[in-house]
Amino acid sequence: TRVAVIGGGQNCEHDVSLASAASVVAGLDPATYDVVPLTIGRDGTWRDRGMRPIGLSGAAEVLRGCDVVFPVVHGPRGEDGALAALCELAGLPYVGSGIRPGALAMDKWATKLVAQAVGIATAPGGLVTAATAAHLRWSRPVVVKPVAAGSSLGVSLVTAPEALRPALDAALALDDRVLVEDVVAGREIDVAVLRRADGRVVAAPALEIVAQGLFDYDAKYGGHADFRVPAVLDDVDAKALEDAALSAYDALGCAGVVRVDFFLTEAGPVLNEVNTTPGMTQHSQVPRMFAAAGLSYADLLDELVRGAHR
Ligand code: DAL
Ligand code: MG
Repeated sequence: TRVAVIGGGQNCEHDVSLASAASVVAGLDPATYDVVPLTIGRDGTWRDRGMRPIGLSGAAEVLRGCDVVFPVVHGPRGEDGALAALCELAGLPYVGSGIRPGALAMDKWATKLVAQAVGIATAPGGLVTAATAAHLRWSRPVVVKPVAAGSSLGVSLVTAPEALRPALDAALALDDRVLVEDVVAGREIDVAVLRRADGRVVAAPALEIVAQGLFDYDAKYGGHADFRVPAVLDDVDAKALEDAALSAYDALGCAGVVRVDFFLTEAGPVLNEVNTTPGMTQHSQVPRMFAAAGLSYADLLDELVRGAHR
């Protein structure tokens, strides 16, 4: 089976996508798969295995010669449904979520509305645009974030009134729509959900992101975090997290593997976001969660390729 693995991409997560794609290329069992890597540059240029520019038409030729496409581009113009759309239009089987779940999950406001509709708690918050930003008054600590930018770029924790306007401006520089949410106090827990090749949808044991040192915003988002897999949870919390993750997967219409990120509060899980193209290096959360469930990295990739939809 010939598998095209697409990495890179035109957004700030380019390097992360390169790392994820390189791991997928190396992790697919060479006895079963003939792997064809393709890379999208920061400027949008498609490149072949030898990093020669081949253009979109050249890439389409390469893709047509493959049995399955495995998109590993995080963020906008990849994870947001763009690569799923390319595969749909070209009639190529592909790994992972389709256009709609990709687009919905990339939009944090749409995700919130879908989650609320199926009874999953999310942080209280509202949508702000350039037209409405001037009317906003600070009354308590909030998190300000672009609705659909990649990584945590443009995200600010606002703890003082004078910091609100600069935070809104920074987020509005990256997106026309900005989310202003209450700060949620809770443990940071991720749950991976996979539709196996046989059609069963399963959740892996949850993972906790444990900040080293002070458990503040910088510790969480500055990269000084450690994982605990499986997370230490009582039965009630474990079940609530799994139910919420499975129901988010289902409600958004996801396929393949996704990572659903929560804050676990006194009142139960609060959904933070759904990643339809989660980090896939061997050390990323999703492979580590499935390893804890007894599914090796190679077997996880195998499930994904065999579960590709057309
Ligand atoms: N956006 C990064 C890659 C993740 O969710 O894993
Ligand atoms: Mg994410």
